[in-house]
Amino acid sequence: MDSQPDRVLIFDTTLRDGEQSPGAAMTLGEKIEIAEFLDAMGIDVIEAGFPISSPGDFEAVTEISKRVKNASVCGLARAGIKDIDRAGEAVKTAKRPRIHTFISTSDIHIVHQLQSTREDVLGQARAAVAHAREFVADVEFSPMDATRSELEFTAEVVAAAIEEGASTINIPDTVGYAMPHEYAAWLERLYELVPALSGVVLSVHYHDDLGLAVANSFAGVRAGARQVECAINGIGERAGNASLEEIVMLLQTRADDIGLYTAINTREIARTSRLVSRLTGYAVPPNKAIVGRNAFAHESGIHQDGVLKERTTYEIMEATSVGLATNSLVLGKHSGRHALRQALENLGIEVQGQALNTAFKRFKEIADRKKTVSAMDLEALVTDELREHLAGFALESYELAVGSGREPRASVTVRTPAGDAARGEFSGDGSVDSVFGAINAATGVDAQLREFRIDAVTEGQDALGEVSVVVTLGERSASGQGVATDVVEAAARAYLRALTTLTRGEETAAAAADLAPAP
Ligand code: KIV
Ligand code: ZN
Repeated sequence: MDSQPDRVLIFDTTLRDGEQSPGAAMTLGEKIEIAEFLDAMGIDVIEAGFPISSPGDFEAVTEISKRVKNASVCGLARAGIKDIDRAGEAVKTAKRPRIHTFISTSDIHIVHQLQSTREDVLGQARAAVAHAREFVADVEFSPMDATRSELEFTAEVVAAAIEEGASTINIPDTVGYAMPHEYAAWLERLYELVPALSGVVLSVHYHDDLGLAVANSFAGVRAGARQVECAINGIGERAGNASLEEIVMLLQTRADDIGLYTAINTREIARTSRLVSRLTGYAVPPNKAIVGRNAFAHESGIHQDGVLKERTTYEIMEATSVGLATNSLVLGKHSGRHALRQALENLGIEVQGQALNTAFKRFKEIADRKKTVSAMDLEALVTDELREHLAGFALESYELAVGSGREPRASVTVRTPAGDAARGEFSGDGSVDSVFGAINAATGVDAQLREFRIDAVTEGQDALGEVSVVVTLGERSASGQGVATDVVEAAARAYLRALTTLTRGEETAAAAADLAPAP
């Protein structure tokens, strides 16, 4: 790992802490796709999951370890033998494997959650790092809930972890409680109490409960941290983690003052943000810094006038520097397969063989209905098509009978994961409700719709519609997304994807039930 003094390592936890956002569960294929984007973007460490938490997480960390070319791949483990064994097994094929082990140091957690003692926590931290070192040279240790812990005790635990061979010490603000000035002072004192801290990488991990995750991460960097843990679009447990795009663009845009750099190819930010939003079902608010739809839009006449005369009058960075403004026309109705493949390659998406044939068929359907197919349309379509290749429920066809004064009646044919065709019918409150009811009838899964959202991929009346749903089955929920020119079709695709995740998760949920709650 590069440990130049001016380089800030970016540790991405979209696939671990990010996936702990309610309803954001992703399939194996989706996680692999995101990991490949993160690797292409130049992320230093990808936290791919928490291997002991479920067979699905174990498989995801194992598969991502096999595929990632440049980044370190990290598996999370509580400070216990079984967790560490499982994480060690999952990352063993990674080019750069890392185990991240943690235990709480705050009295609130020690007394109420762990029902243990400080002495025991110190011993467990020591043993965990020593055991993790038997699997990998690169071990990260986190004293969980550090910012609500007594500093002197945390220092003792951190010193023990370093003695046992931890090469990264991460200080988590688990409940998003810290304030930048207070936290900077806390870290400065930690450096005084643990002189060996200067010989390892100090990392920061903030939650956004008070909206301070990025500000706190920046304070940490100013106090000496050289690794920031963050997630694309800031997703994560509760209010989320520090937003990766914000911290990276802050360091780049104000490099004149800060004097630090990252290895991130910032032009990959926008499309990775869109992919994560699509696959998790977590929409990016229009006014979100860096990746929001309006982040580079100018509404006021005075601002528009200024930008037209000289961009820097009202812009501190260029939209192209984060990969925005890729919405130019790329293909028309008469474009062929070769042109499609070329256009996809220009977007950094390689599609071959059967996947190219299917993408081409979808492209033609869309090009017949839309006058122009933009880069954003293509990206949405291909992401949608890639999801279709995952074995699960898929839409074969649907019909809607709508008459005045009576409820619409939907009949749907669904392909089941076993490859059979199943038909269902239902009359509901409207077209979408009827189609969802017919899908329940066809699949025999009694799921409930909890959230429904439609977005247009691009502007204009003929825009592709992107539907995101959150669906519940008993205690569990999952999101799904679908793209089509017809929003009812997009909704049906989205609903079926959520059902696929929910029904596939059944066996893993049973295995996870034996575990203590995830961090
Ligand atoms: O927020 C937290 O404390 C965590 C740890 C596992 C680092 O996510
Ligand atoms: Zn966290």
